[in-house]
Amino acid sequence: MSTIAITGSGSGIGAATRELMESQAVDVIGIDIQNAEIEADLGTPEGRQRAIASTLDMAGGKLDGLVTCAGVSVPFDPKLMLSINWFGTMELLEGLKDSLAKGNENSYVVAVSSNSTTITPNIPDELVNACLDRDEQTASEVLDGLESPQDMAIAYAASKLAVARYVRMNAPSEDWAGNGIRLNAICPGAIMTPLLKNSINDPVFGPAVEHLPIPVGDFGSPDLIAKWIAMMLSPAADFMCGSLVYVDGGSDALIRPNDWPRSFSI
Ligand code: NAI
Repeated sequence: MSTIAITGSGSGIGAATRELMESQAVDVIGIDIQNAEIEADLGTPEGRQRAIASTLDMAGGKLDGLVTCAGVSVPFDPKLMLSINWFGTMELLEGLKDSLAKGNENSYVVAVSSNSTTITPNIPDELVNACLDRDEQTASEVLDGLESPQDMAIAYAASKLAVARYVRMNAPSEDWAGNGIRLNAICPGAIMTPLLKNSINDPVFGPAVEHLPIPVGDFGSPDLIAKWIAMMLSPAADFMCGSLVYVDGGSDALIRPNDWPRSFSI
């Protein structure tokens, strides 16, 4: 029996992933602010440390997989959004890394990023770099300089871009690939969950979210994203390392057809 931990297991994509993994006889430790084996607020340093300690305790110090799904989106306080989405992801990845190295021959991590990383214009590098430097003070100062309500969308996208860059930068390292841990990220597009409904119901963000172009038609479902996550938690992912898997109905391809992948010069 494998044991995995899922943050944000109480709703949406996390809950769908939990159900699917349990149907495959995987033992799931849920971490959420409510309705989970481990109830902790990942928006605070204390909550994150408690979540890590309790997970290690419940898993006996050895994990076979981790999905970092807990997150919030617009409308939400931008600093708290950054704290939950970025620091709540990064600190759990770091805090549970050693237990993943002790898991099955290969263990698997899926960080939940977003296609907002590539379809949101004007994400300040300074904000993303401050996140990656774990410099909450500078990140907070950059956020103070963002004034319009629409800027909340930038805070969200920056938190998810930091997650994606962390995965790219760390997955191939000795600490991760070298220890048999496959670290990858999924970047969903608009998926119909309570989080998306909340954005749609907002007078500022609702119209933009509702009119996001989705070439395949409608919003995606959490069950469909759960299937991709399940595959990325399986030996099918043995040759994946630092991959960003976009499952977004084509929004990114439509908006940025020529921007990436990019060639480079030496
Ligand atoms: P959801 O709202 O259904 O689930 C999010 C879960 O995170 C909830 O169970 C919630 O209680 C938990 N959570 C929120 N704040 C927390 C905190 N401070 N501490 C611990 N747990 C907390 O949302 P959904 O859509 O399932 O989102 C899951 C992830 O997918 C998020 O990271 C989100 O940013 C990402 N995502 C969602 C997309 C969508 O369109 N629904 C698109 C792209 C990414």
